[in-house]
Amino acid sequence: MYSIKKICCIGAGYVGGPTMAVIAKNCPDVQVEVVDINEERINSWNNSNLENLPVFEPGLSEIINNVRGKNLFFSTSVHESIQKADMVFISVNTPIKKKGLGAGETSDLRWVESCARQISEFAEGHTIVVEKSTLPVRTAQTIKDILFSSGYAKNKSFSVLSNPEFLAEGTAIKDLENPDRVLIGGEDEEAMKSLNDIYLNWIPQQKIILTNLWSSELSKLSANAFLAQRISSINSISAICEVTGADIKEVASAIGKDTRIGSKFLKAGPGFGGSCFKKDILNLVYLAKYFGLDEVADFWRNVVKINSWQQRRIYEVIVQKLFGNVADKKIAILGFAFKENTNDTREAPSIEICKNLLNEGAYLSIHDFKVSKETVERDLVNNSLDSVNNSEIYKLNWEYQPNLYEAIYDSDAAILLTEWEDYKEIDWVKVSSNVRNPFWIFDTRSILKEKDINKLGINLWQLGNGNNK
Ligand code: NAD
Ligand code: UGA
Repeated sequence: MYSIKKICCIGAGYVGGPTMAVIAKNCPDVQVEVVDINEERINSWNNSNLENLPVFEPGLSEIINNVRGKNLFFSTSVHESIQKADMVFISVNTPIKKKGLGAGETSDLRWVESCARQISEFAEGHTIVVEKSTLPVRTAQTIKDILFSSGYAKNKSFSVLSNPEFLAEGTAIKDLENPDRVLIGGEDEEAMKSLNDIYLNWIPQQKIILTNLWSSELSKLSANAFLAQRISSINSISAICEVTGADIKEVASAIGKDTRIGSKFLKAGPGFGGSCFKKDILNLVYLAKYFGLDEVADFWRNVVKINSWQQRRIYEVIVQKLFGNVADKKIAILGFAFKENTNDTREAPSIEICKNLLNEGAYLSIHDFKVSKETVERDLVNNSLDSVNNSEIYKLNWEYQPNLYEAIYDSDAAILLTEWEDYKEIDWVKVSSNVRNPFWIFDTRSILKEKDINKLGINLWQLGNGNNK
């Protein structure tokens, strides 16, 4: 078995930062260094003010406070860090390719390839290379080919493992400290045992699954596809509830009682966001198509299709309820993050819904508890995958409003898009005297109490509620 004293993690993002913080906390004898080419990000990780870490996750700043500078370090010295490491995690971004072969479907692997080349060049002795990023099946072969064929391979050797990450944003620390399982795929049993023993410092052996490389890579894509499929399934039923008088919360609760179905991941909403579900399903679609499995590809593509449809239909409902016209109306956007407890907005349903409303001429007052103005600006103004191409509107017709009540003040409607706990506590009595009439609340997460709102004479539309007016 290889002795692991020094770990390097390439990529200090939503996965690299929290994952390495938890490894450092639980393995005090291992020195962990997280490296990134993004200097600003590394500076934020090193910031003495823990409020300014680049990733917001409940519980993260406490761990960083305890281990940073002891056995956890953040740096831009990628080459030096690789050189010293016994084990290198690749935890870089793998977004969908924008151009060329497989554009819009398969992952852009330029960052992963660049990591493999740098490891190949700078590693010394035996290095265990661990895929932490989510990757198309058989990427481990590409990494091996680069590591072993680049001409630098003298006096060095490598083992390649797949160790996908299953954390969810907002609960990352909980998920890392107490995961449902840890998956290690590989061929070199000694290397697998070395990684296994790192996790054994805080995770029981029965939760650590050892598989071959390709099962590990495919399991990650499949897990995300299954989770996303549940959301599209419940969202499709939410639309049926609205036209039949059924209530999606009652339906979800009733079907979730069946232990074969289970109660988790059955919350209807504005569709799944986040950087991974769509990308990982599209990777599966691409893989299936590549191998001529067209029906399989169609099945999974429809999960993404329902998701886009859900966002579109919410926007259409809003416009319809506001007399088919939102031009010059002020609309409060409550929540911009793709889910609660994160500052991440990648693929957030809010982006598409806001853009469509701006395109209709609405004025948006945007509030979120953790998302910054710069992030909203980037998503609305600079997003190059813009479906509605009118950047002046996106620049001018909205404000970022850090004060929740100011955001709603004098508006025609409020759209609740992220399920932040504090939105459940909004004082609608106070709000109701300071808004335009007729005022509408569109609760796309179904978290508000229908009775409390109705008695104020405010119009409420809740996703999946068959009682909607
Ligand atoms: P991210 O964009 O937040 O972070 C990736 C980081 O890698 C960036 O800071 C970037 O600058 C850095 N990077 C890219 N190329 C580099 C290079 N050659 N050298 C040094 N640094 C480099 O991405 P993320 O959300 O942390 O996701 C990383 C991977 O983990 C993706 O494959 C994703 O699918 C997967 N994943 C993400 C989550 C999640 O919740 N975000 C969960 C599980 C798995
Ligand atoms: C998801 C998976 O849950 C993780 O296991 C996985 O590691 C990760 O993707 C990844 O590979 O990136 P994440 O996207 O961070 O994690 O968050 P989720 O809690 O899964 O939520 C994803 C989206 O689905 C959010 O927009 C959320 O609002 C939505 N959702 C979730 C629902 O609409 N209903 C639900 O019942 C659950």
